[in-house]
Amino acid sequence: MKKSDVVLQLLHAHDLSWPKHNTASAYAPTNIALCKYWGKRCTELNLPLTDSLSVTLPDKGAHVTLTLNETQDDVWLNKKNLDAASPFVTRLVAFLNLFRRKKNWFLTIEIDMSIPVAAGLASSACGFASIVLALNELFQWQVSKKELSILCRLGSGSAARSLWNGFVLWHSGHEKNGMDSVAEPFAYDWPGLKIGILPLSKSQKSISSREAMQRTVDTSVLYQSWPEQVARDLILLKQAIVAQDFHLLGATAESNALAMHATMQSSWPPICYHLPETLAAMQTIWSLRNEGCPLYFTQDAGPNLKLILEEKDEQVVKNHFPELMIESVDRG
Ligand code: PMV
Repeated sequence: MKKSDVVLQLLHAHDLSWPKHNTASAYAPTNIALCKYWGKRCTELNLPLTDSLSVTLPDKGAHVTLTLNETQDDVWLNKKNLDAASPFVTRLVAFLNLFRRKKNWFLTIEIDMSIPVAAGLASSACGFASIVLALNELFQWQVSKKELSILCRLGSGSAARSLWNGFVLWHSGHEKNGMDSVAEPFAYDWPGLKIGILPLSKSQKSISSREAMQRTVDTSVLYQSWPEQVARDLILLKQAIVAQDFHLLGATAESNALAMHATMQSSWPPICYHLPETLAAMQTIWSLRNEGCPLYFTQDAGPNLKLILEEKDEQVVKNHFPELMIESVDRG
């Protein structure tokens, strides 16, 4: 099954020939996985091999404005006009093509991101989610959020989790067409929980998550134990969230991220997103923890770390990581 077939199936009752409005805007927050999505059962539809669970950072994300334009798609990222041949624009235009029955409408797409792009900070998650939300406004599809999460997934897997605040579960599903691979909130509040973004490098990632994931699935000897790790970690994370057990949450998320990176490092050719700065920050976190400061981390497909901490320890942690951007995860 192709992406365009899924779009047809979901939006068959809607007129895709011409938008209902000339312009529409939307915002989507980014999300950080506490139990990672790593590996696909279908690469075309971005269907994951396992479930995953994330927490949203409501104040870090992507604002997008779509405006009808007569000649061609024109993409602006953080006020800079992007080259039509760049990989980002090519990917975006291919995504928009899924929604064009006749190629007779074009868009000016202005994206403003409050997080660094392609540095493992989930910029593609909030980017694609904001575009799907804005398209939904532009065309007035009025489909459910679960259905929108399917459309987000076609752009970038983790975007499926960027439509809600708080904790979000994305189900791998079993159906071939992925209609059961949807995200939904895991609706528990945790007011004192904070995520700190630790920027260690601004450089774009060395290998895309898409390519890295596939190479891991195809070549890593450790990958066979990944689904078991995920199944165990999801049970523990849900328990931790329900009971607001910070140590259980932090330890499970950190161990999950380290296991994901271990599967990558055992791929061939090996994949390593760690920089010397990443390892140095991990050592600092481990020593702080040994000294009694409750602090954990997670890491995605890039060298930067996200620290998991509680509000009461913000100042101590800031003293060791002055450049840390501390974000609240309140559902608001
Ligand atoms: O959605 P993608 O293709 O950018 O992949 C995201 C992969 C991780 O960020 C490493 C894990 C996750 O679950 O977000």
